[in-house]
Amino acid sequence: MSIRLQNTSNIWITGASSGIGEALTEALARGGHRLIITGRREQPLEQLRSLAPERILPAPGDTTSKADLSDIASILEDQGDLHMAVLNAGTCEYLDITHYNSDVIEKNIHTNVIGTARCVDIALPALRRTRAKGHPATLVIVSSSAWWFPFGRAEGYGASKAALTYFAHSLRADLAAEGIDVVVVSPGFVKTPLTDRNDFPMPFLVEADDAAERIVSGLAKGHNEIAFPKRFTWMLRILGALPRPVIDRMAASMSRKSKN
Ligand SMILES: NC(=O)c1ccc[n+]([C@@H]2O[C@H](COP(=O)([O-])OP(=O)(O)OC[C@H]3O[C@@H](n4cnc5c(N)ncnc54)[C@H](OP(=O)(O)O)[C@@H]3O)[C@@H](O)[C@H]2O)c1
Repeated sequence: MSIRLQNTSNIWITGASSGIGEALTEALARGGHRLIITGRREQPLEQLRSLAPERILPAPGDTTSKADLSDIASILEDQGDLHMAVLNAGTCEYLDITHYNSDVIEKNIHTNVIGTARCVDIALPALRRTRAKGHPATLVIVSSSAWWFPFGRAEGYGASKAALTYFAHSLRADLAAEGIDVVVVSPGFVKTPLTDRNDFPMPFLVEADDAAERIVSGLAKGHNEIAFPKRFTWMLRILGALPRPVIDRMAASMSRKSKN
């Protein structure tokens, strides 16, 4: 049985101001944990603080900014041992292939990969200090299952999440000897402000509260890979295992249909 989340834990959550991060904040607050929550918008973070003012502390900032993260590092240190960092802040920008522009790729990579990597700059020393005292220390990286299949328009988003997952798996290998767990979360479609912008059907869409419960449950069980909903992620796994020419034909046909 995992000892993660068994006792009251200090947890840093990025991207807490909406969607999955907001629902995770609510779920972990219900579990009695002490939370430090980050996002660029202060007002939603303050609103979340009112759920448990003695246990929820806003630490607003841009996760791509080293200066903001340096301020957040001081806040984390003031709160004592950090047991878990949930690096969830992210964006999804789709490409319009008719007007190809690499800025779209850059925006996805900058927020999802560089931003997360910069968060590790401050999370890892804090987690190492906790681990050195013999306590559990867990780094959670919210990726996506979207990159398991080459969806049209997702060149930037998919590339960013593929890179992020590789980054997390390599970190897992390097940190294993120190006993620091690295967890990868790979959701399917979750109803949030991010997906409310989507203009295409989203099979097996789950609510943000449901996603948060699945993540907390997977963490508490000690899982290092958390992918949901199962019907969607298994379907993607099976599609992804088909021969490349078959994948290419299916992906091209889906892209054509989405344009029509
Ligand atoms: N929804 C889905 O279907 C789905 C599926 C798979 C994976 N995911 C991943 O889940 C994570 C959360 O997504 P969501 O659906 O909950 O989207 P969301 O509602 O748009 O939330 C994104 C969060 O990230 C924060 N954020 C974005 N850029 C930031 C930056 N530079 N600095 C600090 N915070 C930043 C936003 O806060 P501010 O705007 O206040 O900065 C917001 O709190 C993302 O990594 C996303 O890729 C989502």
